[in-house]
Amino acid sequence: MRIEGKQYKTIWNENGTIKIIDQTKLPHKFEIKELNSSHDAINAIKNMEVRGAPLIGAAAAYGLVLAIRENNDPEYLKKKSQDLIQSRPTAVNLKWAVDRMMKKIQNNNKEILDIALKEAETICEEDLESCKNIGINGLNLIKSIYDRTNKTVNILTHCNAGWLATIDWGTATSPIYMAYNQGIPIHVWVDETRPRNQGANLTSFELNEECIPNTIISDNTGGLLMQRGKVDMCLVGSDRTLSNGDVCNKVGTYLKALAAYDNKIPFFVALPCSTIDLSLEYSKDIPIEERSPEELSHIMGIDDQSNISKILIYPKKSKALNLAFDITPSKYVTALITEKGVCKPTKEEIRKLFQT
Ligand code: MRU
Repeated sequence: MRIEGKQYKTIWNENGTIKIIDQTKLPHKFEIKELNSSHDAINAIKNMEVRGAPLIGAAAAYGLVLAIRENNDPEYLKKKSQDLIQSRPTAVNLKWAVDRMMKKIQNNNKEILDIALKEAETICEEDLESCKNIGINGLNLIKSIYDRTNKTVNILTHCNAGWLATIDWGTATSPIYMAYNQGIPIHVWVDETRPRNQGANLTSFELNEECIPNTIISDNTGGLLMQRGKVDMCLVGSDRTLSNGDVCNKVGTYLKALAAYDNKIPFFVALPCSTIDLSLEYSKDIPIEERSPEELSHIMGIDDQSNISKILIYPKKSKALNLAFDITPSKYVTALITEKGVCKPTKEEIRKLFQT
């Protein structure tokens, strides 16, 4: 997708150097950063220079390539793969990508670096294709609302499940981009998404760059808008979805799903199959990332002199708890939009996705 009219992906290999867009600086500064070591990759994931489930999977895959460049001893790579997996615990794409890389390089000592680099690139290409297909599959859902109402389709989204969270296109945003490209009038309600403001800083930013009308709202406004008939559908991403259809996503998603359910508004979750975790049975077993309370107590912005600064907004003595994700039980989810098709969030339907 575009930034100032120029086409980008979120991570790429430029003559052997792995490059990313530093998302901690957006929307105020656009900076490209190099990942020169596995340590750089781990830090970029931890500090959220790259974030979003599919993108952190891809960054971890390149992280392993960088680890191989440092030392291709199996014990070293085992340790690095664990460090990468643990750099953020909730999004399953991270483990999925690292496990896939480790499987590919096992028993391959000679051309291990070439094999790993090729696999990391394949992971990126496949993610791009998946996101495109999520867009094609989700487009029909938006189109059917438009065909019925013949009015601008108002879509509410949470966090950033846009192209910045993937390699390109995004998950939740992909159907939006496809619909917009087909001339369907769209307007997006963008949840600000405290504390890191991925909605305001990233989703609104990327929609602006693609000229898609959008309005930022505080995280608590969606319910009222739904009651007043101003939301036609909710469309969010996921960090980990279980085989029973329970959806783990950015904290606050659950409350939006409850409000949507009460107001009979469809609640869709867009995700690639790499986000589906078939290994866990119960959502209570999903590790929920707890991040620094400083992300709540401080806020970053830009002053009149264009300096980025961080200020304290809480009483100095107050404690804060910063849980980054929550679980939306499948009964509140209308359907999952995947690269393989749209399905009900049930065991039977999800199992079928993996049979094709
Ligand atoms: O903490 P983040 O910014 O990595 O959280 C991202 C989200 O919760 C997204 O909605 C999710 O990863 C889906 S992205 C396609």
